[in-house]
Amino acid sequence: KVYTDYFFDEPAYNTHDGGYIPLVTPKIDPQPLAIPPLLKPDRQTDTDDYYTVTAQESETQFLPGKKTKTWGYNAGFLGQTIVFRNGKQTHIDLENKLPELTTFHWHGLNVPGPITDGGCHAPVYPGETNHIDFKVHQPAATTWLHAHPCPSTATQVWKGLATMVIIQDDVEDQLPLPRNYGVDDIPLVLQDREFHDDNQFDYRADYDPDGVQGHTALVNGTVNPYFDVTTQRVRLRILDGSNRREWRLHFNDDLEFAQVASDGGILPAPVYMTKVMMTCAERDEIVVDFGQYQPGDEVTLMTDDTPLCRFRIKSFVPDDTKLPEHLVDIPDETPTPDLPVRTITMDGMDDEVALDGKKFDMSRIDARQKVGDVAIWEIRNTNSTENGMVHPFHVHGTQFRVLARNDGPVYPNEHGLKDTVGVNPGETVRIKVKFELTGVYMYHCHIIEHEDGGMMAQIESYDPQHPQTYHLMDMDTL
Ligand code: C2O
Ligand code: CU
Ligand code: CU
Repeated sequence: KVYTDYFFDEPAYNTHDGGYIPLVTPKIDPQPLAIPPLLKPDRQTDTDDYYTVTAQESETQFLPGKKTKTWGYNAGFLGQTIVFRNGKQTHIDLENKLPELTTFHWHGLNVPGPITDGGCHAPVYPGETNHIDFKVHQPAATTWLHAHPCPSTATQVWKGLATMVIIQDDVEDQLPLPRNYGVDDIPLVLQDREFHDDNQFDYRADYDPDGVQGHTALVNGTVNPYFDVTTQRVRLRILDGSNRREWRLHFNDDLEFAQVASDGGILPAPVYMTKVMMTCAERDEIVVDFGQYQPGDEVTLMTDDTPLCRFRIKSFVPDDTKLPEHLVDIPDETPTPDLPVRTITMDGMDDEVALDGKKFDMSRIDARQKVGDVAIWEIRNTNSTENGMVHPFHVHGTQFRVLARNDGPVYPNEHGLKDTVGVNPGETVRIKVKFELTGVYMYHCHIIEHEDGGMMAQIESYDPQHPQTYHLMDMDTL
């Protein structure tokens, strides 16, 4: 079966609230797609990896003419790609060379909250370096790192503080998937930006409480990119790293592809499709087979009618690897008996956004769940189906299963582990959540301006045998 639609509630696509900014095809020559280098470990043993991640200011040449002032992780804009290995003890120096405080949030990593997780309670002040240690304990996946200081996550991500974090493990190693980074295993960080005078970003000028957008698409920070491939299969690790934009991806000639992974790792089985929609913070890995093309051909990844990346077929190289029908087994634990269903509402738009009717408060713990419990959460988007928005719901520190949409089936590509799920206006999405570690974790809409605007809360994962108290920041202690 090949799916040929986007699954989501089409009228609610980001055109809905009226503030939508369409992408414009850039009028500059095609540029080679930037492939972020892999971050070199400071030191590596069989059991331990040591890294330094530096948040820094820089300038980036996006367009002809003036460079743009940007921020990045060990890079001018976005960052170097970080690779972790399941089971390894990982030690990271978090260095802040920016003129303001930032935090280093590991989106999709099962690490202790709230400090290692890097949400708003873990500031690194300018000129300082913090250190974190954790053991990677989750399957191979495409995750990411981004800034998360409250309430300026959106401005810092807009300046460039986001980068891909790839987790590897022995299971994924054995699968017949392309994994030659930068050759046939390609990160694609999708974002949009507005360029103002002298090619500069101007977040304030573009501000919209429903999410800031720009007319120009960037892929790994490249405007109008192309990438040279052979006729072999290629794996694209796609991250919606934009503040607000949804992407409706397809190829110009409706080339079929296979989705093989979602946020938290490999799917149980490949899902064959010609279209896929991604909401903010989601990751989809797709395998594209260029075997039907000839050298000289070009096939273009599009979002709606806008080209995102041209794949130029350079040479013929035979490739007869086949994707197996079954990829991996996904844990599917029975919910803990007698736990009440946790209901959550994502409310409002513009400045009125809230979660469970409340604005986020850093010093308030909104909910508690016992570590190891498997709980059902029901997330309802209370926006009207007439003009509401899709709100991508994200939970820190865990990978969940999606169980139902309005009591009906989930989308065909939602049978794997997820940490972010798009909830259509008026819809209720049921998920199954387990925290393996104790800590305080945030959960929120990942339209970053909604998150900064208060559509966010926090939950404590607690161990009754070992009660803990947390030093929670508030706006005044920052
Ligand atoms: Cu991408 Cu609070 O996270
Ligand atoms: Cu997160
Ligand atoms: Cu939202």
